[in-house]
Amino acid sequence: MFSFLFKKTEHDLNTKENHHNIAVNTDGIEALYDFIEKNAGISLQKSKVLVKNHIIALCERYNISSFLSLLEEVKNNKTLFTELVDAVTIHETYFFREKEQIVEALKQHKNNSPLSILSAPSSSGEEAYSIAILALEMGIKNFHVSGIDISRAIIEKANSSLYSQRSVDFLSQELLEKYFIKTHDRYSVKESLKEYATFKQINLFEDDIYQLGKFDIIFSRNMFIYFQDEKKVEAYKRLESLKKDENSSIYLGHADISSKLSQYIRSKM
Ligand SMILES: C[S@@+](CC[C@H](N)C(=O)[O-])C[C@H]1O[C@@H](n2cnc3c(N)ncnc32)[C@H](O)[C@@H]1O
Repeated sequence: MFSFLFKKTEHDLNTKENHHNIAVNTDGIEALYDFIEKNAGISLQKSKVLVKNHIIALCERYNISSFLSLLEEVKNNKTLFTELVDAVTIHETYFFREKEQIVEALKQHKNNSPLSILSAPSSSGEEAYSIAILALEMGIKNFHVSGIDISRAIIEKANSSLYSQRSVDFLSQELLEKYFIKTHDRYSVKESLKEYATFKQINLFEDDIYQLGKFDIIFSRNMFIYFQDEKKVEAYKRLESLKKDENSSIYLGHADISSKLSQYIRSKM
């Protein structure tokens, strides 16, 4: 009756009661986070309550009673592992998020040879379609954009190519009418634009990435932010091996680069 008067044990503090009357024990959080980092690069801090709560919600959804059981489960279940990664990452993106960088990159490769472009990670596709729109507006027609992301759900969204008003806020009325069909409050990408982009669920740290082929331009924005130095360099090396030739370029976001990574990049020049 007066349980609140008793000092909570470590076990109690690590256990959250939930609506379905299962309690998720979060012991082993370090082992779980190590597994996520080793396999997806993503480095998580134990102190971030929100992230932990998202994982607890995932456990509740699948009736998994502890982080240790979740760890055992994700070791053999790729789909669940990608759902776990989904729970701890943000997919925020929008059209023309980094317009200037894209235009700059396209200008460097403006000739008639076919251009292959990678958007890794693509999230729900806004970046890949922004690249396609800008290329077409610059008169480039012989190109293809491959979008990849670790999240199955977000790749499904990219394949549906349906966007909210918020996503397209930075597009002019003229571009909206040229490349989208408006239905109610959604913008659907026209087939004539869709043909320039394809999306696949791929983890950058898995070797399926090498089946994508080679690229002239590689955009990798706002993913390295999740990685610690060592993984940033490992991820960069993976992207480097996707370059078609010495004229190919990799474009990262400002927040993606650490001093260790820029040291590595400079050492290659
Ligand atoms: C914030 S979005 C970036 C989207 C877009 N590039 C942009 O800058 O607007 C970050 C994405 O990285 C993806 N991601 C994180 N780790 C990944 C990995 N190891 N392999 C592939 N995608 C990953 C997440 O699923 C998320 O959709």
